[in-house]
Amino acid sequence: MIRSVLVGTGSALPRRAVSNAELAERVDTSDEWIVERTGISNRHIAAPDETTSSLATDAARKAIEAAGFEASSIDLIVLATATPDQTFPATATIVQNNLGCRGGIAFDVAAVCSGFLYAVGVADSMLRTGMAKRALVIGSETFSRILDWEDRTTCVLFGDGAGAIVLEAQEQGEEGSRGILATRLHADGAHNELLYVDGGPSTTGTVGKLRMKGREVFRHAVVNLAEVLKEVLEETGHSPSDIDWLVPHQANARILDATARKLNLPAEKVVMTVGQHANTSAASVPLALDQAVRDGRIVQGDLVVLEAMGGGFTWGASVVRI
Ligand code: UT7
Repeated sequence: MIRSVLVGTGSALPRRAVSNAELAERVDTSDEWIVERTGISNRHIAAPDETTSSLATDAARKAIEAAGFEASSIDLIVLATATPDQTFPATATIVQNNLGCRGGIAFDVAAVCSGFLYAVGVADSMLRTGMAKRALVIGSETFSRILDWEDRTTCVLFGDGAGAIVLEAQEQGEEGSRGILATRLHADGAHNELLYVDGGPSTTGTVGKLRMKGREVFRHAVVNLAEVLKEVLEETGHSPSDIDWLVPHQANARILDATARKLNLPAEKVVMTVGQHANTSAASVPLALDQAVRDGRIVQGDLVVLEAMGGGFTWGASVVRI
């Protein structure tokens, strides 16, 4: 059986870290409020020369190096972002050019905070059906460019960054098979107005700013994530106690705690980076994954579950044997 095996991870953050105290000088907020309600202490904010494509390229280079591949052997790039460099061409094609690999497939996926999960699902399907052999799956965002820096209810929550993984199509046996074992994705467009950007090329002709009804999003997130995790674990015949690591979308430490509690999963099994990165949308899962791989927590053979929920609403989860 062909499986998409994870063979490398990488990540990149903008040079500048911004503390809660620094934000409190700009808007009516405090370190205490932000830490208590979200778990966030810091976020990285991109300088003008740091873009979604430049961060994605840095993360991709590290993932390719970790895989031990030549960049030219990558024949599929799927890049998840809601903050592309330009309306078109796809940021994935800019990254492809930066890496010096030409001729393969390259496109963007837009599913906001769930974008990386959607990108994993698409890349996995394409690898398993033989359309490509080696895929780069990237989540990269510069949300700082679409934040309303006067709105304290949103501007304190987000940060910039990128994460990438390399997947390779490999023949695997049924028993102890490595790779992506299952991915479940969902969307419900009825909740569009709870989390959106108030502009776009076809409506206002502007980029727009992020708007969110945080409390409602929170409520939906806890319910939807618990359901999709149950679904994807059932599909692979696993129970929550089989999970070695949960790598969740990093929106709010309270959402992560609530999800872990619903699964009866000890907090030590949840990779938590929200404190230092804040919510980096599509980048948050691969950023957290790379951190836990590089610090030696996640090792080959581990059963890892990835999950995310975001604007649309969209949500999804993936079970991966590393
Ligand atoms: O990645 C996509 C998914 N996004 C999410 O998952 C985000 C989900 N939502 C959340 O994480 C939380 O709902 C927030 C962190 C956004 C807000 O936390 P909350 O506990 O739901 O607070 P709240 O919105 O109910 O606001 C409580 C109070 C309000 O004041 P009043 O109306 O009670 O007087 C807000 O005006 O906190 C006030 N507030 C702030 N105070 C200081 C809102 N933002 C701030 C702030 N600093 N930055």
